[in-house]
Amino acid sequence: TEIPTIQIIDAKDYVGQTVRIGGWLRQKRGSGKIAFLQLRDGTAFFQGVVVKADVPENVFETAKELKQETSLYVTGEIHEDSRSSFGYEMAVSDVQVIGASQDYPITPKEHGTEFLFDERHLYLRHIKPFATLKIRNTLIAATYEFFNQEGFIKLDAPLLTGSAPEGTTELFETDYFGQSAFLSQTGQLYAEAGAMAFGKVFTFGPAFRAEKSKTRRHLTEFWMIEPEMAFMDQEASLALQERYIAFLINKVLEQNDQELDLLKRDKDLLRSYTQLPFPRVSYDDAIKLLQDNNFDVQWGVDFGSPEETFLANHFSSPVFITNYPKKIKAFYMKRHPSRDDVVICADLLAPEGYGEIIGGSERDTDYDYLKARIEEEGLSLDEYNWYLDLRKYGSVPHSGFGLGLERMVTFVTGEDHIREAIPFPRMMHRIRP
Ligand code: 4AD
Ligand code: MG
Repeated sequence: TEIPTIQIIDAKDYVGQTVRIGGWLRQKRGSGKIAFLQLRDGTAFFQGVVVKADVPENVFETAKELKQETSLYVTGEIHEDSRSSFGYEMAVSDVQVIGASQDYPITPKEHGTEFLFDERHLYLRHIKPFATLKIRNTLIAATYEFFNQEGFIKLDAPLLTGSAPEGTTELFETDYFGQSAFLSQTGQLYAEAGAMAFGKVFTFGPAFRAEKSKTRRHLTEFWMIEPEMAFMDQEASLALQERYIAFLINKVLEQNDQELDLLKRDKDLLRSYTQLPFPRVSYDDAIKLLQDNNFDVQWGVDFGSPEETFLANHFSSPVFITNYPKKIKAFYMKRHPSRDDVVICADLLAPEGYGEIIGGSERDTDYDYLKARIEEEGLSLDEYNWYLDLRKYGSVPHSGFGLGLERMVTFVTGEDHIREAIPFPRMMHRIRP
């Protein structure tokens, strides 16, 4: 009978059977009589045991000589293994080398983070990146599932643009056939055009910001999900946002048990963040709360990381901070009906120090107001005439928001730095590999 070739993750279905698995050698230990091969294949991690007395001489010799990251086929019988968290191992009867490996740089000893990210193309193979990026993938798939089931269509926004809606200080400029163009900071303005055509749309793509700050929360290239909804006010948008966040967390809890365990993430704590509704606190009240707790903040300032961390931890939950001062927010946000100094917007702050994961607002619908705001911000009207058309031809109330995918990944995985949350991070001092 033919020996089936399987993946490690399916080992549980083959207990007592002989199978073949293609993978890589992570680590090896043992003695003259036994070799323990730590193996991975991209689905899971487990151990193959080679006992000298049970296999032909050359098989044991091959196993003993294996170097870290050699690719190989191992053949053997699957057993339950109650000592490992995975629960299964292989009694190896044959080892076949596919691709040799020499002097693999990421040895089992401790390495510095800079080194690991210089070797990111290899570091991807290791447990923490594996688990983190699998969870990222769940969030991506769940995003499509959620917005499809909510009746949205995905609208792809361009990445080369002429506009700078999120502020002119963080722009990557590039030459576009003799004209200047910018790498997109946000797909929002295009999403607004889409909402006027399709009702509910979301964009999902890279965003670029020339962030000169070196923080644990900022990338220069990150991925953003930007839903935009015609005929939806800010209240309904907040309800959609919290439903979306709870949906994402629940999907990860359902599908990434192994990965959450590998990362030692507290699953009960994560589950507690799916309790809706999330608290809503006005910016005014947030300032008071901060002042009462000895933060040196005045009305009008934007929050930094310590303030955001305090606020969300105070509620032990993601928390919406609503109606920020107009002067620290983007030009398109809707005016407050009775106050001139704040706008109809909200940031969703995650607990445990993960910071702002969503920024969103209702959009102002008035042509003249927006035109004046664009000029006030020193933006070039020529680049926004098309956007102003949306207020000229059947303007309707609409709202939208942007979720930073990597912020969400760090929050869900418990990662302390955002560079872990994307395969190849781009930051001020890192553009390779
Ligand atoms: O708050 P932001 O700047 O909002 C917008 O761009 C709006 N156009 C969204 C909208 O209403 N359609 O960015 C949205 C989110 C932030 O809450 C944060 O999660 C993430 O994008 N983000 C970043 N993530 C990583 N690195 C950076 N430099 C980020 N800047 C923003
Ligand atoms: Mg923001």
